[in-house]
Amino acid sequence: MKRVLSGIQPTGDLHIGNYLGAIHNWVGYQDTHDCLFCIVDLHAITVLYDPETLGENVEFVAAAYIGAGIDPKKAAIFVQSHPRTHSELHWLLACHTPMGWLNRMTQFKEKAGKKKDQASLGLYAYPVLMAADILIYQADEVPVGEDQKQHLELARDIAQSMNQRYGETLFKLPEPMIQGPAPRVMSLRDGTAKMSKSDPSAYSRILLRDSADEIAQKIRKAKTDPHPLPETVADLEGRPEAKNLLTLYGAMTNQKLEEAMKIFAGQNFSALKEALTEACVQKLGPISSEINKLLQDDRAYLRTVLKDGGEKARTISEKNLEKTYHQLGFKV
Ligand code: ADP
Ligand code: TRP
Repeated sequence: MKRVLSGIQPTGDLHIGNYLGAIHNWVGYQDTHDCLFCIVDLHAITVLYDPETLGENVEFVAAAYIGAGIDPKKAAIFVQSHPRTHSELHWLLACHTPMGWLNRMTQFKEKAGKKKDQASLGLYAYPVLMAADILIYQADEVPVGEDQKQHLELARDIAQSMNQRYGETLFKLPEPMIQGPAPRVMSLRDGTAKMSKSDPSAYSRILLRDSADEIAQKIRKAKTDPHPLPETVADLEGRPEAKNLLTLYGAMTNQKLEEAMKIFAGQNFSALKEALTEACVQKLGPISSEINKLLQDDRAYLRTVLKDGGEKARTISEKNLEKTYHQLGFKV
């Protein structure tokens, strides 16, 4: 059985970009793949964070995975820091990663901004830790949103160059799976910017736990353009907000973009906004009530899930780490 691994940072509420670009696609692997879904707390501390809320955020993400359809009986859900192995492999990989490769990473440039000298070494090494998350399980496939493509290519490059030096059996080359109806969801305030947890405007993103009223308000305020909605995908060129809202409508109603476009062709944005609000409320309502239920009544269950997932992750990763040390020449 092929192995799938992916992860999300516990850095606050999840938005529909995280859902459509990642978790929604993970659900489909559970019956056919050996699945490991990680909550990447070590990545969450690469920027300034609040130690008081880190633990709570981890449990929230676990609840969100389950609420969005991951079944802990089929897939392991675990916390990245529970097996200590990821940090350890990170070091072995770091010593084989040229700084020139890391200098190309656009996420670091975006997150560090103008204050590059004040960014932490951890933020710079972020993609190496991510490579460790993947390579330590010999994962075959990694389903992520489009923004993670560059990091996955780096993971493959590290694996490939180490395999050349230490033998082809060292690491499996992971396949990035960038798929689903909306691999890159854009901000509701600016169709050219990615929807992100760190956007200062709360109106830029719809959260999994938003109420129906909040969803309606955010979609009502979403940026548009002055023209009626077009008929063909080609006519979406230069109209990023129309493209984003139509893509979201298609994704939320399980239709292709082309099909969604047929419904609204020639109409103005208000019809689309109304239908999109309805579709988001329908889709997200059950997810958010399940998340709230788990967080209110089922904390013990969440902790058991994370403990069991952590044990599975520890068993696999310790074995692979041992083998890696050995192949790199550590004979203990
Ligand atoms: P964020 O980028 O919001 O801080 P993470 O970095 O934790 O969130 O991303 C977790 C997953 O969600 C990754 O697979 C990432 O590719 C995906 N993702 C994040 N934002 C988007 C988006 N706007 N559209 C599609 N997928 C996204
Ligand atoms: N870097 C990813 C993100 O920001 C999260 C992540 C960390 C990840 N480790 C991973 C995703 C391993 C897939 C596999 O979205």
